[in-house]
Amino acid sequence: MGVGEELRFPDTFLFGTATSATQVEGHCAQSDWAAFAREPGRVRGGDTPDAACDQLHRFREDVALQARLCMGAHRLSIEWARVEREPGEFDPAAWDHYRDVLGAHLDAGITPMVTVHHFTLPRWVALRGGLLSQELPALLSRFAERAVEALGDLCQLWVTLNEPNMLALQAHLVGVWPPARSSPVEAVRAHQNLFRAHAAMYRAMHEAAGRRGHSIEVGVAHHLRVIEPDRFGRLADRMWAALFERLFNDAFARAVCDSGLHDFFGVNYYSRDLVRFSAAHARAGFLRRLVPEGAEVSDLGWEIYPEGLGYVLDAWWPRARVPIYITENGIADADDDQRPRFLVRHLAEVARAIERGVDVRGYMHWSLLDGFEWAEGYAPRFGLVEVDHATQERSPRPSAELYARIARARRIDADGAGIAGAAGAAGAARGACGTCGTSNDGGAAPA
Ligand code: FCB
Repeated sequence: MGVGEELRFPDTFLFGTATSATQVEGHCAQSDWAAFAREPGRVRGGDTPDAACDQLHRFREDVALQARLCMGAHRLSIEWARVEREPGEFDPAAWDHYRDVLGAHLDAGITPMVTVHHFTLPRWVALRGGLLSQELPALLSRFAERAVEALGDLCQLWVTLNEPNMLALQAHLVGVWPPARSSPVEAVRAHQNLFRAHAAMYRAMHEAAGRRGHSIEVGVAHHLRVIEPDRFGRLADRMWAALFERLFNDAFARAVCDSGLHDFFGVNYYSRDLVRFSAAHARAGFLRRLVPEGAEVSDLGWEIYPEGLGYVLDAWWPRARVPIYITENGIADADDDQRPRFLVRHLAEVARAIERGVDVRGYMHWSLLDGFEWAEGYAPRFGLVEVDHATQERSPRPSAELYARIARARRIDADGAGIAGAAGAAGAARGACGTCGTSNDGGAAPA
């Protein structure tokens, strides 16, 4: 960021956080992930999502925390296995729970964004073929339709599917998520089936909203990476990078854009891959992903590459032709020594993209809390707020206070001296923001 550069966000821009049901709620034994995590060796450290962050019982505390941090939006998901325990039997108490959750957000002035499907399936769907089942589009669209009927008066922004590309890859090719398969053919079939599901969900959700007189906007949260050949001089690396780009980044997102079946375009952006063709990586489609030598990486070894978010926005804005939300962006950083700079540098990319004319409406940081990170268990710490999973105590990290300060000021200052704002940000937590209705001193975060 250049010295003296000041970046401002529009008044309507939504600063928020993101979570998903399985990763934070706890207490749902009926999902495929609950069963999978119990199989030895599936999840690091033998962790399970059984308790997660106990948000099922603590959502009011968490919403209060979001409000205190001046958040204007929050992306959350509904646990399919909780609301439809048996085929076609929807539990009214579960819908009531989600009505309470959304109501709490609205009462706190926080705009909710609801994801219908975030990776997990009810066990009964998994047993009927899961992502490969011919029934999947019909089952998911029925669930989505019921969700809009039950919650459509409380939520305008809806995501059909979270990262269908990542789900198909991890579940059916890399084999580290249920049902732990390693079949390129299955991965392609799952991916295509998820596209059919999205199309059916999009239509069913709009029809349901129309019948009830609700106005909703529906999109997909696409996982988009920057993909480059590791060795430009090697044809095989270039070919594999192009193939990965096409199958992973492009296929689903392009199909959605071409079909016009979306009202906004969700971007989940984390990192860049240098791609190498590798005979030793047959299981992963002969693809080896590397980070540039000497690059700064997160606790999970992912390269920190903020410029990539700018590239992704520039690449997809002309194709998407609908407003964009950053539906996820974050870092595993237990010490919180990288997150402040990560946050500011990625937000700066968003602000610059807006200046270039890209219609980005909001940014949801992954994540509000340290949650259950799938096969990695509770080890990676993505939370702005630290969670002690033994006591469920929540402690906002300095980066949470910094983010609050940025959200309150709606701008980032550049003084060329790195992050100086983290310490001075503590005042934000005292409640001076638009969301919590108290005074705004206009202080911004130096970047
Ligand atoms: C994304 C997932 C999300 C979380 C982050 C770290 O791929 O959508 O659930 O695990 O990665």
